[in-house]
Amino acid sequence: MPKPKVFATHQLFEEARKILDANCDIQYWCEPERPSREEVLRRVKDREALICLLTEKVNDELLRSAPKLRIVSNVAVGFDNIDLEACSRRAVAATNTPGVLDETTADFVWTLLLAVARRLSEGEVLARSGNWKGWNLDQLCGTDIWGKTLGIVGLGRIGRAVARRALGFQMKVIYTDAVRATEDVESSLNCEFRDMNALLAESDFISLHVPLLPETRGLFDGPKFFRMKPTAFLINTSRGPVVDEAALVAALENRKIAGAALDVYENEPFIHPGLKRPNVVLAPHLASASVETRSKMATMAANNVIALFQGQRPPNLLNPDIFKK
Ligand code: DGY
Repeated sequence: MPKPKVFATHQLFEEARKILDANCDIQYWCEPERPSREEVLRRVKDREALICLLTEKVNDELLRSAPKLRIVSNVAVGFDNIDLEACSRRAVAATNTPGVLDETTADFVWTLLLAVARRLSEGEVLARSGNWKGWNLDQLCGTDIWGKTLGIVGLGRIGRAVARRALGFQMKVIYTDAVRATEDVESSLNCEFRDMNALLAESDFISLHVPLLPETRGLFDGPKFFRMKPTAFLINTSRGPVVDEAALVAALENRKIAGAALDVYENEPFIHPGLKRPNVVLAPHLASASVETRSKMATMAANNVIALFQGQRPPNLLNPDIFKK
């Protein structure tokens, strides 16, 4: 039987490559720069599977260019780069990589939270500058984390992993979500449900863990910042457009909130110049970026492709409707 023709827009990691090389006729994009849109459209023309990153937009245009495509395997848990309806219309399976990145992402939420609360970026700039004059009593004093209130917006897998870590800091954890968690979950995480307004008013740190959907686009806007404590910090590792960046900049300029720590942006890789301030920690979309986790994500994406061509339903299928047709 001929092997399925696959294009991967990245060279992936060794374990994923082993699986793909043994089972597919595969081309990898191995250049250090990401492929241009034109390059992706050209390379998918005769391919039956596409393994892509969240930076590739999978829409009607791409699907039209790839008439033989049967699966789009995203190496990410978020899939707002994929038009699922367009995939379903053409009976193209779409998959993602849930679960494997939760703990690593939660670790990074805490990296950001700790860094912004304790002014690590400012301290590092000073330490490297050659201008540090030595210890001083009121030098770069930040804010305590222990004993404070953490507000989690979206208590899914990652939100829960973040909440678990808060116990060690003796924090009070509150959360809001479209669906309230069960009593068991709440008591195991020692967290309490709040509606959004109560969470905004009570939290010292707010961490966002919602997917990007029409209803979450711009979720954190001017009125939300207005309701936060002026001493509170916003942490965003979900998707940039969940926050109205212009409103965030205005809130920071007008001291409506104390600061922010961001891993994601409205128009990546562009970062709003108004965010480049000392009380904002900026990371370039790194939350899941450990070698172990990124390798697991790539392997999961590879296994989704292999499953389909072995006649099985891919384990992380996002549009099961294609199998009902
Ligand atoms: C995802 O998987 O959606 C993250 O943004 C990158 O790990």
